[in-house]
This record gives sequence, C-alpha cells and structure tokens, in this order.
Amino acid sequence: MVLTLGPLAYTRDSCVTGPGAGSGKIRFPSMSIQSTLSLAKRTLRLDDEVRFIRSWMEEPLATGAVMPSGKPLARAMAKCVDPDMGGPVIELGPGTGAVTAALVEQGIEPSRLVLVEFNPTFCRLLRTRYPEATVVQGDAYGIKRLLASLLRQPAAAVVSGLPLFTKPLKFRLRLLADAFTLLAPGAPFVQFTYAIVPPIPRSYSAFG
Ligand SMILES: C[S@@+](CC[C@H](N)C(=O)[O-])C[C@H]1O[C@@H](n2cnc3c(N)ncnc32)[C@H](O)[C@@H]1O
Repeated sequence: MVLTLGPLAYTRDSCVTGPGAGSGKIRFPSMSIQSTLSLAKRTLRLDDEVRFIRSWMEEPLATGAVMPSGKPLARAMAKCVDPDMGGPVIELGPGTGAVTAALVEQGIEPSRLVLVEFNPTFCRLLRTRYPEATVVQGDAYGIKRLLASLLRQPAAAVVSGLPLFTKPLKFRLRLLADAFTLLAPGAPFVQFTYAIVPPIPRSYSAFG
C-alpha cells in the first residue's frame, strides 16, 4: 500500500516503526493522522488554485475569478439550501467544487447534485470527486434545454457561481426565468457575485 500526498510517499513498510511494528499496526514516523490529513487538504486546495489560475489565464471572462471560493462563502451559499426539501440540487459553474463540497457538508447527497460546468478540465475533476453526481458539460445559459430530459422532479435549489456580469442583462434575466421553471415552488436561486451592485437590478422585483 502506498499513501501519496503531493511530493511525499509513504510505503507501508517505511511507516511501521516502534513497538507496533510486526503487530499489524501502522505508525507514521513523524506525522499524526490529523496533520497528514490537513497536509492532504492543503495540497488539494493548492492544486485547485493552480487549476483555477491556469483556467483564468486561458479564459478570464468565462472563469470569472482567479481563485476558487473560500469555505466561509461556500458554506454561506450552501446554508441557503434545505437538505430536507426533495429533488435535485442544480449547481451552475461549480468550477473545482468549492461550493459543491459545502453542499455535501450541508447534507445534500452527491447523487442529488446536477453540476453544469463549461470547462472540460473542471468537469473531469468533478466526475472524479463526485462520481454519483450528474456532471453536465455545457453552457448554463441553455439550462432549460440542457436539463429538460435529465430532471425527473422539480429542483430543490439552483446554486450559481456564474460570473453573471460577463453577460448582457437580457441573458441574465432569461437564465433566471429558465431556472425558475425548473425549481419547485419556494425553492431558492442562490448566487454570489463580487460587485458593488447586484447582477439583477432591484427594479426587476419579480426576482426580488
Ligand atoms: C467564479 S467561478 C466559480 C467557481 C466555483 N463555483 C467556486 O465558487 O469556486 C465561475 C465558474 O463558472 C464556470 N462558467 C462560466 N460560464 C459558464 C457557463 N456559461 N456555463 C457553465 N459554466 C460556466 C467557469 O468555468 C467557472 O468554473
């Protein structure tokens, strides 16, 4: 058995030390399980940041951010979703899965997740991380056509990290209108945007 953490690799033999050796107990020489896990998490996070920067350099407008969302933002988004409400949870622009992870942490079964992502590299990553989720590679602005045959019941939420400001208002409004046709009554559309004004002007009270 080989446990690989970024540049480090422990083989079973090199990990067995001290009084536990030979008795089947495995001991890590200088790292506790907790610090090993925390190193793994940091390595994962760093990998995601590198993927994001690369994607942003290739397509800055479509990627919309230089870094994946941090945990506090991801958790704040996920908190808006009621895990007890039935139906799929649709995520638009999941990227490397920062908000996806918070949704799962919030109690949403990965099998309920429908992840709509433009970037094929991010889609591959999401399929590896969430094999039970439905990952749809495509343009979220065509959500109605993309998901019409996939959804068997109204969605419990649409959670979006799309960089809405890169599209004209007309497109944003159509996306919202289409998303609401897929949502159960009372289910939320959750969006984060880094800007001093909301991407949907308050005057559009139908969406307020
Ligand atoms: C600002 S990032 C947010 C990523 C992730 N939700 C997070 O919080 O870390 C925007 C994401 O939306 C994706 N995206 C942009 N336009 C899209 C579109 N039209 N359809 C689907 N995904 C899109 C980008 O590839 C990127 O992964």
